[in-house]
Amino acid sequence: MSTQPTRKPDPGDRQLMTLPRIAEMKRDGEPIVMVTAYDYPSAQMVDEAGVDIVLVGDTAAMVVLGHPATTPVGMDEMLMMTSAVRRGLDRPLLIGDMPFGSYETSNEQAIENAQRFVKEAGCDAVKLERGGASVDRARAIVRSGIPVMGHVGLTPQTATALGGFKAQGRTAEAAAKLTEDALALQSVGCFAIVFEAIPSAVTEALMPRLKIPVIGIGAGPATDGQVLVLHDLLGVYEGHTPKFIKRYANIREETLKGVRGYAEEVRTRKFPDEDEHTYSIPPEELEEYARYLEEESLVGTDTPWDW
Ligand code: KIV
Repeated sequence: MSTQPTRKPDPGDRQLMTLPRIAEMKRDGEPIVMVTAYDYPSAQMVDEAGVDIVLVGDTAAMVVLGHPATTPVGMDEMLMMTSAVRRGLDRPLLIGDMPFGSYETSNEQAIENAQRFVKEAGCDAVKLERGGASVDRARAIVRSGIPVMGHVGLTPQTATALGGFKAQGRTAEAAAKLTEDALALQSVGCFAIVFEAIPSAVTEALMPRLKIPVIGIGAGPATDGQVLVLHDLLGVYEGHTPKFIKRYANIREETLKGVRGYAEEVRTRKFPDEDEHTYSIPPEELEEYARYLEEESLVGTDTPWDW
C-alpha cells in the first residue's frame, strides 16, 4: 500500500465548473470535455488533466465490475464509486448516472435516488437515459432542485429493446423520434444532453434546435462536447469496443508489463532490494532481540495447518 499522495496545486487559471459555466462554453463555442471515472485516483488524474465534466457512468457495471451489460449495477455500488470520485475531484462538475431500476418506477423513486447521489455522494447533477417516460422523471427531479443531464440515441440500459448495442436514428422515423425525445428533455429543464451512437448528419441537423449543451459519444463532431469512457480511451478495457472509440493510451499493456516485471523480480529474489526497500533497526536493539529469541523457548507453536 502506498502512502497518501498530496494533491498537486491547481495551476490557478482553471475555473470551477458550474452549470452557468457549461452553458457559457456552449454559447462561446468552446468544446466541453467530459469523461467517466469510477474511483479516487482516476478522479484525481482526470481533474489534473483538466476535463470539464466527470460522469460516474453505469458503464462501471462493465468496465469495473465485469458484467456483460450496464443493467446489473445498483444504487449502493454507484454511490460507493461516486463518493470515491467526489473525494478525488476539485474542479470538474460531477454527475452521477442513475442506474437501471433506480428511476423508472415513479417520480418519487427517481427523486429519492437522485437525492441520494447529491446527499451521499456529493454530486452536482444526475444523468438518466431515454425520452418517453424518462421525460416525466427528469421533470420531477429538476423540480426537486437537482440538475439533470438527459441521454438519447443508444441508451445501453435498454439496449435489448433497441435491438442491441447499435447506432440509433438511422431512418427518418427513428431520427424524428430521437428529436422528439431530445426536445422533450430540453423542455422539462435538462441542463445538457448526451447523444450516443447517432449518425453525424442527424446530429448536425438537430443541433440548431437545441439550446442546451449536447455532449456526443459516437454522434459526430457537431456536438458542443464529447464524452468517452475512461477505460476505453486509456486502453484498459478488453471487451467489445464500438467504432466511435479512440484509444489515447495502452494502459493494459503498461499494467501487464509492470505486474510481470514485479512477479519476475519476486521469483528471482531481486525485489525487495536489501538497501533500497527495507527498514533498519539499531544494532543494540537487534542484539537484544536475538538474546530474547535464544532465551525464550519459542519452538513448537501449534498450527492447525499440517500439510
Ligand atoms: O455510463 C456511461 O459511461 C455513459 C457514457 C457513455 C455517456 O452513459
